[in-house]
Amino acid sequence: MVAAAFSTAVAPMVSKAGVRCRARRSTCTVRAAAAASEMVPDMDKRNTMNLLLVGAASLPIGYMAFGFISLVVPPKVAGSGGAQAALDASGNIVKASKWLETHKPGDHSLTQGLKGDATYLVVNDKGALEKFGINAVCTHLGCVVPFNTAENKFMCPCHGSQYNNQGKVVRGPAPLSLALAHADVTDDTVFFGPWTETDFRTGQEPWWK
Ligand code: FES
Repeated sequence: MVAAAFSTAVAPMVSKAGVRCRARRSTCTVRAAAAASEMVPDMDKRNTMNLLLVGAASLPIGYMAFGFISLVVPPKVAGSGGAQAALDASGNIVKASKWLETHKPGDHSLTQGLKGDATYLVVNDKGALEKFGINAVCTHLGCVVPFNTAENKFMCPCHGSQYNNQGKVVRGPAPLSLALAHADVTDDTVFFGPWTETDFRTGQEPWWK
């Protein structure tokens, strides 16, 4: 009985791969598998195809990953002294030359400014960008104030406050003028920076500092 069992364990076996084994069954299995892998037809071609497949797939996957990251992480270009690049309605950085191609003298258009605040970029009468941006948040109760081109002033739709074309309050109930930010161009990129000096419209210290 014992002899029979022993003979089964060590008896010569022929694996599916045609390998003749005289060792234990487990050892034989390993050898057979190794032999089988050596016998896979066109293994080199398969490896080449796998590499090509991985290479081809990595391009669109990488492209999609980049697009996703771009969506999640908004473009931010920091300037000196806490300045931040102005962003247009699509979230793209405002380039001065391109902006002035489509925004004519007297234009007041909304951009994204410091801390994400809606901020007007102003084109002056000479067709150049003003050195200041105007925060669009009404100083009464915080509505976003639209610019009325026909009236050449800001008119709040919520409670009727009005501001001149530089954002100085000219009619209440708003108690204060619209906040200012510096608007400077560096390498054709428009940057908004904190306005901490005297408000040139009122001659007073800025209330928003
Ligand atoms: S929020 Fe603008 S007038 Fe009240």
